[in-house]
Amino acid sequence: MGISTPTPLPGFRLGRAFIATPLALAPMAGITDLPFRRICRRFGAGLTITEMIASRAVDQGRERTERMAEIGADEHPVGIQIAGSDPDFLREAARWAESRGPDFIDINMGCPVKKICKQVAGSALLKDEARVARVIEAVVAATRLPVTLKIRTGWDERSKNVARVARIAEECGVQMLTVHGRTRAQMFNGQANWEDIGLAKASVSIPVLGNGDIVDGRSAREMLHVSGCDGVMVGRAVQGNPWVLAEVRAAIRGEPAPAPPTPAERWAVVREHMLALAEHHGEAVASRLVRKHVPWYSKGLPGSAEFRAAFQKQSGWQAQLEAARRFFLGQERLRDAA
Ligand SMILES: Cc1cc2nc3c(=O)[nH]c(=O)nc-3n(C[C@H](O)[C@H](O)[C@H](O)COP(=O)(O)O)c2cc1C
Repeated sequence: MGISTPTPLPGFRLGRAFIATPLALAPMAGITDLPFRRICRRFGAGLTITEMIASRAVDQGRERTERMAEIGADEHPVGIQIAGSDPDFLREAARWAESRGPDFIDINMGCPVKKICKQVAGSALLKDEARVARVIEAVVAATRLPVTLKIRTGWDERSKNVARVARIAEECGVQMLTVHGRTRAQMFNGQANWEDIGLAKASVSIPVLGNGDIVDGRSAREMLHVSGCDGVMVGRAVQGNPWVLAEVRAAIRGEPAPAPPTPAERWAVVREHMLALAEHHGEAVASRLVRKHVPWYSKGLPGSAEFRAAFQKQSGWQAQLEAARRFFLGQERLRDAA
């Protein structure tokens, strides 16, 4: 596909914040907690959003919910994402979220998970456009902060309504829209349809971020070219690879791609991530979380398959830290020997 030489994206205003680098880290439950968002921001994310917080959970005072909403002093602009279908719960959730100090409140209407859809939340809301409007209006009325929305392109192939939902969102006061170019029925299968994202972009005058299947600088530029969006949001490609954000940032600015990390640089980030998880969640929870993150960081490296299998068997925080150190520092020796 012919992609014209990119002109740097101009960025946009979101309430009092100016989004100079319209490259968002996608909210991912169980992954984009504060420790990982901090790392992603350093590598180039210009915008971060917390994991989804169920609106019914916010007034129950659970420590876990509080931790999910914790944002860093160095982490702005940042949004807190709330989900639900009952305007009353969402109103409360918006007030609660505002008091945690974010720059904006993001409403999730993209989650395809059954448990969430059953309560007519997440992407199931897209089937009920009148409720979409009521939910947005309730949140907009409850907060002084800008309200943003994340959607899929519709419920299924036959009922795509992305352009209509985008217009409803704008009319109800949403100030930035993110579109994941899949229907709910697609879950994470098939390919994201970037043209459908373009339908939303063409229907509104608020900034639109395109999301789905961006894996590198080239795909980011291609998506911008196809959809005409104001920015991009990257999710799964960042797992174990925050460096991809530096590459995407360079691509959308029309700059050359940065060099990939050396083994020593990779280990420094893995170590930082592990220690920050332990500090944020405590060693017991961190020990569970690193079983996802650390193997992701090893993807594509020599000996990765054996390492992953062995790492899952490690028990205890110190043993995990030591196993990771041995593997990632061993990469440095392999490189020197080559
Ligand atoms: C493990 C996982 C958890 C996710 N959790 C959330 C979430 O809490 N809120 C949300 O809006 N989207 C969530 N998503 C969807 C992502 O934000 C994103 O829309 C999707 O992964 C497509 O982008 P990608 O192709 O760049 O990964 C999640 C995705 C994954 C893989």
